[in-house]
Amino acid sequence: MQVVKTIAEVRRLVGRARADGNVVGLVPTMGALHAGHASLIDACRAGCDYVVVSIFVNPTQFAPSEDLDAYPRTSEADLQVSSDHGADLVFMPDVDEVYPDGPTVTEVAVAELSDKLCGRARPGHFNGVCTVVAKLLNIVAPDRTYFGAKDYQQSLIIRRMVADLNFPVEVVVCPTLREADGLAMSSRNVYLDDSQRAQASELWVALQGARDMINRDRPPAEKVIEGIRSHLAQNAPDGEEDYIKIVNPCTLADVQTTDKSVVIALAVKFASARLIDNILVDGVGA
Ligand code: PAJ
Repeated sequence: MQVVKTIAEVRRLVGRARADGNVVGLVPTMGALHAGHASLIDACRAGCDYVVVSIFVNPTQFAPSEDLDAYPRTSEADLQVSSDHGADLVFMPDVDEVYPDGPTVTEVAVAELSDKLCGRARPGHFNGVCTVVAKLLNIVAPDRTYFGAKDYQQSLIIRRMVADLNFPVEVVVCPTLREADGLAMSSRNVYLDDSQRAQASELWVALQGARDMINRDRPPAEKVIEGIRSHLAQNAPDGEEDYIKIVNPCTLADVQTTDKSVVIALAVKFASARLIDNILVDGVGA
């Protein structure tokens, strides 16, 4: 496995791999790699000949009040995970390499999808994500790129950006990897103390309960949301709701009824740890 820090080196090595006839895959990450990230590398390994992992804590997707400085940085362990899961190349640039003149003047914005759900509490966040992913796609020029369904909104926005701007890449969205008790794996779980960690598993319990309720009765969305809210009030009292929403899976617009396919998405804060999760529920007859 090779580890490089410059765009020129990535282009040279990927160019050579492509010239040798390899299908190139990219897994973009911000490091602090856990089994969820590793599952994306595995999927990339299975679907591509040459596996590139990028590790870059992208400053432009963090608001000034957010955890950029505190974001866990575990380079050595990340390289081990990447190598254990069969990466051929790790691109680990410094901030100056990606943003030599500070944040770019040019920004990619996927309007409509970016101001909903997580975008409401994090204005500008998805523009930062899209801009850095566009850069990474232009730098690496992969045939396929891998994203996690855990960040449902992010993967939808990236798919939309790729379609709208004709990036010649296939976006593959992989299932959410969970701890044994159902908590979605996340780099931010390390911020949780024991009591918060125990309560955090209730997010997935609540989402599954909501899915079952929809499959059983197809109740109005508001009733399902109330069910989640009361479950969390009882079982995760230290969690502060940012949002609990039931939305159209393509537009992310709020829905009132639950007979068609919907995504139930939530964000809950335990002190400084903001956790997100979601579940896709198929419509009647889907
Ligand atoms: P990061 O949070 O490091 O996540 C990298 C990728 O791992 C994302 O596609 C995310 O959805 C996926 N992922 C995280 N937890 C997962 C889990 N439990 N199961 C499966 N996949 C999981 O998302 C970002 O970085 C950044 O916004 C990035 C796209 C790299 C742009 O900076």
